[in-house]
Parts: sequence; structure tokens; C-alpha cells
Amino acid sequence: MIIKVDNKINKKTQMLCVFLVEETKQLLQLKKYNINSDPSVNQSLGDIGGKLGKLGLIPTPKNNQFDRVLLAGLGKKDEITRDTIRFVTGKIAQKARELKLKEFSIIVPPTSINEPGSAVSQIVEGAKMSLYKFDTFKKEKATESPKLTIIIPESEEIKKTARTAEIIAEGAIFTKNIANLPPNECTPNTLANIAKTIAKKNKMKYTVISKQELKKRGFGGITAVGQGSKNEPKLIILEHMHGPKNEKPIVLVGKAVTFDTGGISLKPGEKMDEMKFDKCGGCTVLGIMKAVSELKIPLNIVGIVPSVENMPGGESYRPGDIIKLYNGKTAEILNTDAEGRLILADALSYGEKQYSPKAIIDFATLTGACIIALGTNVAGLVSNNKQLTEKLNESSERTTEEIWQLPLNQDYMDMIKSDVADMKNIGIGRAAGTITAAAFLKNAIEKTPWAHLDIAGVAWTQIATKEKTYNPKGATGFGVRLVLDYLQNL
Ligand code: BES
Ligand code: MN
Ligand code: ZN
Repeated sequence: MIIKVDNKINKKTQMLCVFLVEETKQLLQLKKYNINSDPSVNQSLGDIGGKLGKLGLIPTPKNNQFDRVLLAGLGKKDEITRDTIRFVTGKIAQKARELKLKEFSIIVPPTSINEPGSAVSQIVEGAKMSLYKFDTFKKEKATESPKLTIIIPESEEIKKTARTAEIIAEGAIFTKNIANLPPNECTPNTLANIAKTIAKKNKMKYTVISKQELKKRGFGGITAVGQGSKNEPKLIILEHMHGPKNEKPIVLVGKAVTFDTGGISLKPGEKMDEMKFDKCGGCTVLGIMKAVSELKIPLNIVGIVPSVENMPGGESYRPGDIIKLYNGKTAEILNTDAEGRLILADALSYGEKQYSPKAIIDFATLTGACIIALGTNVAGLVSNNKQLTEKLNESSERTTEEIWQLPLNQDYMDMIKSDVADMKNIGIGRAAGTITAAAFLKNAIEKTPWAHLDIAGVAWTQIATKEKTYNPKGATGFGVRLVLDYLQNL
């Protein structure tokens, strides 16, 4: 997709798209843009009434400056949110593809809540992300995405906004694309190679720590979880150091279990295929790092991705095992399906020790309990720091990647106390499963501001997922836009 910002209506556009609101008469709104549509055509089509998500296609005579006009409803003026334009643009873009168009144009609407800049970002994100299709393994590929021209008075700033939004959307799409890979095609080693490729292309430092060295250097969590699979564990590290030389970095950590069978504590068969998405946290970190380097964000940012496959087998770790984590603390394993916290604990401690970061943010499809608590449209947030939480909430508001904070006090910490080790890898029964998992992670961090995002419900589309045009079936890339917004506003 090529995105172009233009200050006038492109003479040869195949489809001119106009947003409408409910309050103003359709014909009046069209007149404002000098759209010469035959009132009778307009009549026969019916007034779409500006209803949210409704589309109306008006064919115009071929000798007109555009082949057709597409009306797109934004709903009631006062009910327009920061997600409305993103969502409706998705509808428009999908229509453009359905009509097999080569290009289309959208007029940026004047709205109360969105300044022109953010409307442009939302149009770009909505169009790009809704045209994404995972067809890597299909003979028949999706038709090429139509090109988009955004019609708005041109300025350097607007052009930059559009370009930035494009890179961000591409970051989210990159994340979706690798997260959607099937587990036979995407092992920890595959992820390491993908990371290496983006590092090379964008001049990031790339490091990978493999099985023997992980064991030697005391990564007891990653080693234990990874030992049951012949696809060996990897700890993948990307460094983007574009900030002042001695400035402490932001560290991003992402769980990448390329397949989670549960291990010896085997999961039931139903929907087990979905556990290919247990690598989504790691994929989010890789997508962010790709975008961060393309945007040349002037900060020091480190991405750390512990990756394993959690399999049952003769060499698997077992319930009853006591392992030693990277920070020296011991953990009693009571369920090998609570594996994410073990690999994350190692990665978090390593990140803190190695980089003394300003802040650590981790992403993980960590607990089914998070889906019970918050559903499939809101991610769980657990943090030890007010300011970091506030910043993330602001970014969440702007990006409509929704998060909700859960508490973590000493009582929850006590729930993972073990009789025989420093802690155990599950809580008490199923009580507060998301928080007891976070409590385990908190033990891996000494003093750094930290935020944990449990993305179990939001990382891919599930039965209860709210339909969003820009999140087609499969991985959603949740967290990429959220954290890029956070980083850009630091
Ligand atoms: N990857 C799963 C969590 C998960 C399950 C995410 C379903 C999305 C959908 C995680 O490794 C896991 O299995 N967690 C267990 C923890 C339990 C054993 C304490 C869970 O949630 O059941
Ligand atoms: Mn598990
Ligand atoms: Zn898991």
C-alpha cells in the first residue's frame, strides 16, 4: 500500500470516500465537498443517515473526476471515539479491495475529538491493518492492497504523521504475521532468525543465547521449560541505542512459547491449536523493535525475548521439581503449564541486572484467568509504579488498546509461598490467577519501575472478541501500537 497525502481531490481517483455524521443531511455534507452527485442517484441509494459503519456507494458518471463516491457513516458526532475513524476506514479499505480497486482516496473529516493529525494516523492504521491477511500458506494470495490517498491540506508535519503511522501499522502487521505462523514452522530458532534479520536490516545489535550457555549462565527457568523439546530454547536480545550515550534504556520483555502443550501437566485437547499464539508477547516485542528502529526513536530501547517450546517428553521438567532462577531464587514446580512466568522471571532479572533500565514492560499470554477476569478486549496490567501506569493508560486511551490495572499487594505475594523453595509456580487454587502469576514475576525484579501486560485475552481473536475491521481473524498485534505511543511520548 502506498499512502499519499494530497491537498486536492485527485482527478483520477477510482473511489472518493467521504465520512458522514448522523446530524447533518447527507446531501448537504456532499455539497460541501463539491461532489457532483445526481440527487436522484442519491435518493435511490437511500440516505445512509451517517449511521456508524454503514457504507453507501454512489456511482458517478465516468466523465466525472472520480468513478464512484463511497459514503461512510461515523455515527453521532458526540459519540465519535478515538477508534471510530480507524474502524470505519477499515470498512472502506475492505470495500476497496472487494471492488478490486487499484487506489482510492479518503477526505479527512473534521471531528471534535480527533485533531487532523490523529485522524490521519487513524485512517492509515485502519486501512493498512484491515487489509492484512495471513496467506503465507495459501496458494491463492490476497489481491494486492489498493493504494490510499489521504486528502488534507499538505504540510511536512502531516506527511510525517502519515509516514509514522504507516511504520507503526507495519510493526503491528509484522507482529501478526509471525504470531500467526504455525508451531511446526516457528520454533525458538525461527524466531531468533527473524530477529536477526530485522536487526541486520535496521542496524540493531542482535544477541542470542542458546541452550548450553543458558544452562551454564544460570537461566534455570528457560532451561527447565525448554528441556522437554528437541526445538531448543533461545534467549533473543535486540538493542536499539539511539538515545544519549549514558541514558538508561527501556527494556521490553516478551513471552515467546512457540507452542504450549502444558508439558507433563498436559492441557486438554480442545483448542490446544490456539497455543501457537503463546508466542504473541515475544512477537509484540519484535514488532515494536522493528518499528522503533525504522522510526529512529531517539531513545535506548532493548527487546528481550525468551523463547521455548513447552512439550511433554522423557526429558521434560516435572511437577515437584525445584529449579533455580537467574536471580538465584528457587521455585517449586507444581504445574508445568505455568511455564510462562518461569521463562519471564529469568528474562526480567537478566534485563534488570544487565541494563539497569529506567523501566521494564513485559507482554505475555500468561493466564487463562485473565480472560475470565477481563474478557477478550482488555489486557490485564499489573505494575509496581504509578507513573508508568499513568503513561500506559494515556497511551491506551489514544490507541484504543485497552488495559485495566489489577492490584498486587503483599497478600497476593504470600499466595505463592512454597514449603520447600523460595516460591511456587502456582497460587492457591484458581484464586486471582492473573495476579499470582504477576506476583511470581515481581519476585524477579528488585527495584525497577515495571509493568506487566497479560495479553492472554487480546493477543488473538477468540469467540468473545469484539469485531474490529482492523483486527481480522488471528493474531492482533496487541501492544505494538500501545507501547510505540508510550515510547514516542517519553
Ligand atoms: N499460555 C497459557 C495461558 C493461556 C491459556 C493463554 C489460554 C490464553 C488462553 C499459560 O501458560 C497457562 O497455561 N497458564 C495456566 C496457569 C495455571 C496452570 C496456573 C492457566 O492459565 O491455566
Ligand atoms: Mn502454559
Ligand atoms: Zn503458556
